[in-house]
Formats: sequence, structure tokens, C-alpha cells
Amino acid sequence: MPTATARESRPAQVGGGGQPQADIFDDQHDVQIGLIDMLADCLSSARRMHQVEEVLAQLIRQSEIHFLSEALLMRLHEFPNYEDHRREHEEFLAGLEDLRCRVNEGSPIEAPLQDLRRKLLTYIAEQDRAFYRFLDTHAG
Ligand SMILES: [Fe+2]
Repeated sequence: MPTATARESRPAQVGGGGQPQADIFDDQHDVQIGLIDMLADCLSSARRMHQVEEVLAQLIRQSEIHFLSEALLMRLHEFPNYEDHRREHEEFLAGLEDLRCRVNEGSPIEAPLQDLRRKLLTYIAEQDRAFYRFLDTHAG
């Protein structure tokens, strides 16, 4: 069972000018984690198995929108770790595409889904936290 949410891994304080945007991003993180958990629920219930493809498609769309929003703000403020952060986004999206391929093949995705969930929470707690701090000092 999932044990942590995106908001639980959020930095305790993101003050100043970064606060509103950080809140928007955290709302988007909550949607991402919520869709991952919804997908896990679908996988564990024969009754909801038909929803797997649609929920996964929603997760991919939501992740693309979120990462694009972050990338635009990073470029706007010339975030120095933009390239590293962008690579993390691409790796996560590639992981989601791999899940889609596995679903199409009829292969199990429970374990890689939970692996992606853990990676996303780490990314939120570490990479995004660094970005929030940067915004706090450079975009205020
Ligand atoms: Fe993020």
C-alpha cells in the first residue's frame, strides 16, 4: 500500500515570491500521486481493470503538463540546474511510456509503478525543493 503523498514530502517552508507557484506545483504533484494510486487500485481490482489504460493516459497527460509548467518557469528564471531537472522529467515520462507498453503487452506493471512512485516522491522532495528555494531567492 502507498504510504506517502506528494504533499508530505514537500519542503516545510517555501516563503516569499516562490510560495504561490510552489503551491500550484504541489497541487499538480498531488494529482500525479493520486493518479498513480488510482492506477494501483485499478490494477488490484478485476472490476476496475478496464480503467487502467485511461487512468494511465491521464497520468501521462498530467505529468507532461506539470513538467512543461516547471520547465517554462525554470527557463524564465534561468534556473542553473534546468538541464538536470529536465532529464529527470524525461526519465519519468519514459518510465510512464514503458508502463503503457507493458499494459499493451499484457505484462504486469505493479512493481514498476511503485518504483516510479518512489522516484517521483524523491524528485519532489529533492529536485523540486531545490527549485523552490531558487525561486524563493531569485523570483521574489
Ligand atoms: Fe515537480
